[in-house]
Amino acid sequence: MRIDFNNMEDTILHEFNGGNGDVIAKMYFDGKNRIMRATLKKGCSIGKHTHVKNFEVIYVISGTAKITYNDEVLLIEAGNSHFCPRGNTHMIEQYGEEDLVMCTVVPWKNDIEDTIMERRSCKQYDPEKSVPKELIERVVNAGTWAATGKGQQAPIILAVTNKEMRDKLSKMNAKVLGADIDPFYGAPVVLVVLSDKDACFTWKNDGSIVIANMMLMAEDLGLGSCWIHRCEEEFNTEEGQQILADLGITGNYEGIGHCVLGYPKGEKREPHPRKDNYVYWVE
Ligand SMILES: Cc1cc2nc3c(=O)[nH]c(=O)nc-3n(C[C@H](O)[C@H](O)[C@H](O)COP(=O)(O)O)c2cc1C
Repeated sequence: MRIDFNNMEDTILHEFNGGNGDVIAKMYFDGKNRIMRATLKKGCSIGKHTHVKNFEVIYVISGTAKITYNDEVLLIEAGNSHFCPRGNTHMIEQYGEEDLVMCTVVPWKNDIEDTIMERRSCKQYDPEKSVPKELIERVVNAGTWAATGKGQQAPIILAVTNKEMRDKLSKMNAKVLGADIDPFYGAPVVLVVLSDKDACFTWKNDGSIVIANMMLMAEDLGLGSCWIHRCEEEFNTEEGQQILADLGITGNYEGIGHCVLGYPKGEKREPHPRKDNYVYWVE
């Protein structure tokens, strides 16, 4: 994409981050990432701030930036860059006679807390958008890195992208539910988690955190996900057992749940407030 700074309105950031004067900015902001061409006239500055969740890259187009980076003072001239990695503090001042013109990039960095809080069960998927395999692999991989009882890795994941199999599982699940619907809400990808009952007595718990990991990874990648239940009943049928046999899966497996995946359609559902007395502190 092209960012057309030349045809963009100025945004005046007065005493930005507690600095002096104005930052005259042409700003591209997509709600997450901020890319701006900023002009600081003589005496102007951007105040000291810490990049708690993201980093910043500054490229000086003209003039000189005096940057106090943590405790170090740097003079960054035209053609050079300054990098402030996550967790570091900086302050930017115009230096010398010439206006400072720079391009700054502050990418969005979702941290684990945001991912946890922002995840919602997605109950409507865009049927037109398929999920790239690279993303499915990352979600599945996150599942395989879940903690497991005694480290026995009791669960397995069937990563289903085949439409015929996806539809078959949907029908089997709907049958358990006793309703003629698609319980997968149109999601194109179904990650079935089963767990080996003989691997460790924690097999059910193990399978659950595999699904939790996958839902969080999906959120981090901008995908929608939802736990769909009734996996145990689905795979306790002859049809379910046959699917496992056809895949060459032998062992004492029981279904834990499905993590369905896809691109969300429509707005995210509003979360319910957390109940009172969820946490009892013992200090
Ligand atoms: C063990 C478990 C089973 C669930 N089963 C289903 C299900 O079968 N169908 C469904 O639509 N949602 C299912 N959900 C999703 C819940 O409806 C959802 O987590 C709940 O409404 C809270 O919403 P949130 O995940 O957006 O916070 C399940 C969630 C869990 C943890």
